[in-house]
Amino acid sequence: MKMTEYMERGEDVILHTYNRFPVVFEKGDGVYLYDTEGKKYLDFAAGIAVFALGYNNKAYNDALKDQIDKIIHTSNLYYNITMVEAAEKVVKATGMDKVFFTNSGTEAIEGAIKTARKYAYMKDGCTDHEIIAMNHSFHGRSLGALSVTGNVKYQEPFKPLIGGIKFADFNDLDSVRALVTDKTCAIIVEPVQGEGGIYPATPEFLCGLRSLCDEKDILLIFDEIQCGMGRTGFMYACQAYGVLPDIMTLAKALGCGVPVGAFVLNEKTAKASLVPGDHGTTYGGNPFACAAVSRVFDLFEEEHVLENVREVGAYLEEKLDQLVEEYDCFTARRGRGLMQGLVVSGRPVGAVVNKALENGLVVISAGADVLRLVPPLVISKGNVDEMITLLKASI
Ligand SMILES: Cc1ncc(COP(=O)(O)O)c(C=O)c1O
Repeated sequence: MKMTEYMERGEDVILHTYNRFPVVFEKGDGVYLYDTEGKKYLDFAAGIAVFALGYNNKAYNDALKDQIDKIIHTSNLYYNITMVEAAEKVVKATGMDKVFFTNSGTEAIEGAIKTARKYAYMKDGCTDHEIIAMNHSFHGRSLGALSVTGNVKYQEPFKPLIGGIKFADFNDLDSVRALVTDKTCAIIVEPVQGEGGIYPATPEFLCGLRSLCDEKDILLIFDEIQCGMGRTGFMYACQAYGVLPDIMTLAKALGCGVPVGAFVLNEKTAKASLVPGDHGTTYGGNPFACAAVSRVFDLFEEEHVLENVREVGAYLEEKLDQLVEEYDCFTARRGRGLMQGLVVSGRPVGAVVNKALENGLVVISAGADVLRLVPPLVISKGNVDEMITLLKASI
C-alpha cells in the first residue's frame, strides 16, 4: 500500500493532535529507518530522544521476546522479578534510593509533584504549598505536568491548572530566590532544557538551586526525562554538575521504546512522603516494561554507550560549530553530548526539517527556531559526517 493511503486512513480515525510529517515508517535497523516504500532515512531524532540503542538491537529484542513468553503483566499488588532488577539498576545508576515506575514521562512528573506536596503536608499539615518551575520548560501534557510547563500556549486552553505554581527564569538564581516563600515545597528544573530549545543549565544555577533547597528544606526535582540516560555523556545530566536532586524523573530512553518512566527519590524524601494508598498505577513497573529497563542498563555497559556519546558527541559539536561558522542560517550551537541544538535564522526551522526528511534525514525542532539533534546514542562519527552532508543539502 502507498504511504499516502496509510496517511489518509490514519487521518480518518486518529485524533488530529499532531501535524504529522508525511512519512510512514515501517522498520528500523541500527541508526536507519525505512518507510513503507523502502526509502532509507538516517535517524537523528531517535523517536524524540528515545531509541538510544538503535533499532533492531538483537540483545534488546531477545530480552523482550523472552519476557513475553514468561509473563507480561501482573499488577502492583505483587512483586515481580524484572521490576526488582530494574529498580536496583535505576538506584545504582542515579545514586538515589527508591523508585516508582510509571508508564510515561508526564506521569513521572505527576508522581514527583504529588511526592513534593505530600512531603510538605507531612511537615506542616497545610494544603497550600507552592512549586517553582522555569519559563520555557517542558514537563508533559497531563494537568499537573502542564501546570509546571512554562509555555503559555500549551497551558491556556486547559486552565484552571493546578494552583500554587510560579515561574522563574532558567539559569537565573535570583529570579528563583525572589519567588521562594515559606510555602515553597519544590523547585522543578530540567538540567538541560529540551523542548524549550536545548539550553544547558549553568553550574552556578544547578549548584545554587541545591544550596537554596538545602537551606530552606525545599525538594529539588530534576527532570531528566530527555537529558538523562546517557544523552549528555553522563548517565544523568546532573552528574556532570556533581549535584543530585531529591526527586529525579526519567522516561524516554529508560525503556528505549517500551513505554516506561520513573520517579526516583532519595531516602530523606522517600521516608517522609508517599505511603501505601497515596499513589498507584495498574501497568507501571510491569514485568515487560521492566525487562526492557533492566536490559537497557546492561546494554549501556556492554556496548560502552557513555564512552560513545562522549567521543561522537565531541565530534558532533565540532562539526556543528563548523556549520555555524560557515553558514549564515545557523547562528549558534547549544547542547551537551548527543543532545544538540542549532539555532536557525532567516528561514523557518520547520522548512529545514521538512527538506531534511525529503533528503532522507530525520531531525526535529525545539523551541521556535532550534534544529534539535538527538540521535540514537550508538551513532558513529561516520554517521555524523553523513548527517552533515544531508543537512547542508537541506538548507
Ligand atoms: C523534559 C521532559 N519532561 C517530560 C516530558 C513528557 O514525557 P512524555 O511525553 O513521556 O509524557 C518530556 C517529553 O518530551 C520531556 O522532554
